[in-house]
Amino acid sequence: MSSKTPLVIFTPSGKRGQFPAGTPVLTAARQLGVDIDSVCGGRGRCAKCQCEPAYGDFPMQGLSVASDALSEINEVEERVARVKGLKDGRRLGCQATIQTDIVIDIPAEAQVHRQVVRKAASDRRIEMDPATRLLTVRVAEPDMHVPTGDLERLATAFEELHGIAGGSAPLTVLRRLQPALRKGGWQVTCALYQPTDGAAPVVLDLWQGTWEGAIYGLASHGKLAGGFKPRNRSRVYKNLYLTGGSANPGPGVPMVLMSGATAARSVLEDHAVPTNDEWLSVRENNSSPATAGA
Ligand code: FES
Repeated sequence: MSSKTPLVIFTPSGKRGQFPAGTPVLTAARQLGVDIDSVCGGRGRCAKCQCEPAYGDFPMQGLSVASDALSEINEVEERVARVKGLKDGRRLGCQATIQTDIVIDIPAEAQVHRQVVRKAASDRRIEMDPATRLLTVRVAEPDMHVPTGDLERLATAFEELHGIAGGSAPLTVLRRLQPALRKGGWQVTCALYQPTDGAAPVVLDLWQGTWEGAIYGLASHGKLAGGFKPRNRSRVYKNLYLTGGSANPGPGVPMVLMSGATAARSVLEDHAVPTNDEWLSVRENNSSPATAGA
């Protein structure tokens, strides 16, 4: 056994710290703020504190984990395995103690704050039929052999793509149609008002390309709209980090920045690079990193 204080690395959080040999995994996890469940207070009754030690070489962390990095399975763990069932390779965090350097994964079901979708996905259809809708259409480019106006070709696109005939536009909108089409590469998004009395539809406003560069486009993601944003550090693929409006915690500039900071911190943690929290954390005093770091 090594004489140095053992290093413990928890995944997927990436949190790490050194603890004296003999420290229970649960104690180390709590001291590092690792998300791990425990209902019985560490008495070996609830089986909530399950963890999965990983053995072998971890070049990314510069660690080599020996097969005896944790204490031997004790009677309490044997009883829990018998009575409640314990998957192969799993240990109880409150019973297993750290002996040497170790990498420990906390499975999703042992995390208190894991993402839980409490709403069952369903295919209930809700017909949306608002009077004004945003529609993105690709309009045919002008052709000198078939002379047509921009509005005429826009109306044709509405009819072909959405079955809406006879679209018109007031002069204020019409003036912006030509530049919008050219800047948008012949694609525009229109706010189209369709009167319920059968009168001709009217384009109330328009934008070049997709409306305000929407992250999700104009349509919702149906069932996925319920919130299945992937975490910033992939649990499936090593060295895959996700950031942006579609990743955790979500869209919007502040959220996207948080997502980038979380992903960056994960990369630094995984590659054992010291984290400069002045750059990566959202600080309370709102001073600029350059000022604070000076
Ligand atoms: S905390 Fe309950 S079994 Fe470990």
